[in-house]
Amino acid sequence: MAKSDACRCIGILTSGGDCPGLNAAIRAITRVAAGYGIEVVGIRDGFRGLVERRAEPLRAADVSGILTRGGTILGTSRDKPNKMPMGKAGKMDMTAAAIQNYHYLHLDCLVCLGGNGTQKNAARLAREGNINVVTLPKTIDNDVAMTEVSFGFDTALAIATDAIDRLHSTADSHHRVMVVEVMGHKAGWLALSAGVAGGADVILIPEIPYDPDAVAATLKERARSGKRFSIVAVAEGAMSRDEAAAAKMSEEGKKGGKNDEQPPSTVVGSEMYVRATVGQRVAREVEQRIGFETRVASLGHLQRGGTPTAADRILASQLGARAMELIAAGKAGFMMAIQGGKYVPVPLEDVAGKLKLVPLDDPLLKTAREVDTCLGD
Ligand code: F6P
Repeated sequence: MAKSDACRCIGILTSGGDCPGLNAAIRAITRVAAGYGIEVVGIRDGFRGLVERRAEPLRAADVSGILTRGGTILGTSRDKPNKMPMGKAGKMDMTAAAIQNYHYLHLDCLVCLGGNGTQKNAARLAREGNINVVTLPKTIDNDVAMTEVSFGFDTALAIATDAIDRLHSTADSHHRVMVVEVMGHKAGWLALSAGVAGGADVILIPEIPYDPDAVAATLKERARSGKRFSIVAVAEGAMSRDEAAAAKMSEEGKKGGKNDEQPPSTVVGSEMYVRATVGQRVAREVEQRIGFETRVASLGHLQRGGTPTAADRILASQLGARAMELIAAGKAGFMMAIQGGKYVPVPLEDVAGKLKLVPLDDPLLKTAREVDTCLGD
């Protein structure tokens, strides 16, 4: 590789929830950069590390052995440059400090590995600081716009599918309904994909508010046809039709200045009441309507931990390497995406602030219905 004249030094940070594949991307970027004679600076704990100038050189040798490791060797945080908790001072706009440190570290480009929040924060930083920023899409939720898939998703999908497979035998033995709660607040890609792969009988996703009566009727019909157990896969952001209507009203209220959002927990005297998760709510609805014994398994952060799958290692390595190639050529202001199986740069400004939800005409939804899966509607 010829030495790059356009770029001498880049910074890398990982921001938002971690996921498998981040280290594979860091490794690819660092090694490809080294091939171009470009220095790499690893920035700790996302945008907070940039604001607090916590950074150290990352050499090819430093990324040896990290390909298969989950998480991120750089650490991560959900802190945004423009609303950063700063101890007693509360949340402050630290954008200027972040930009100042970009220059202090002599960066020619900042590479941000993250999900939706990161895309938005990275685009804002590029715009306000007039600096070179490039991003890669990572998230187990697979909801970053303009890319077919984000790294982390395949690993989480394998974990969630394995969990559904395992729940089958215990559900069968006890003749129970097992509700399995999968991550995904706004987008149902993970619940839908794991539900189809694992053969869940009911799949509930945020994009399709569900009718508890329809869910109960499906489970009852299965029992009537001789099936003595059922599996319900539910995304953590799924809502019943009533809940979705209430959430919409509360959203409109907030826009009009009112805020009647339900707190996640309430303390009354010495007792703490925690709002039931969607899995618990679905289980209660089933038991109340048809009396079937029901249990809930919430997969939580298990879905984000551990070794990335081969597919995630390859995707993260490819996205990192192809992004670095363009950076070495002096390009910036893009997210490296995969579209139609090809690695393409897409304008960061077009990605920022957009969510890729499951479209109601998605082929996987159609397939789910065709194989008799209830989608709660
Ligand atoms: O952003 C990915 C995600 O895994 C979501 O699916 C989930 O709702 C959230 O992160 C959990 O975040 P945290 O790790 O901050 O609890």
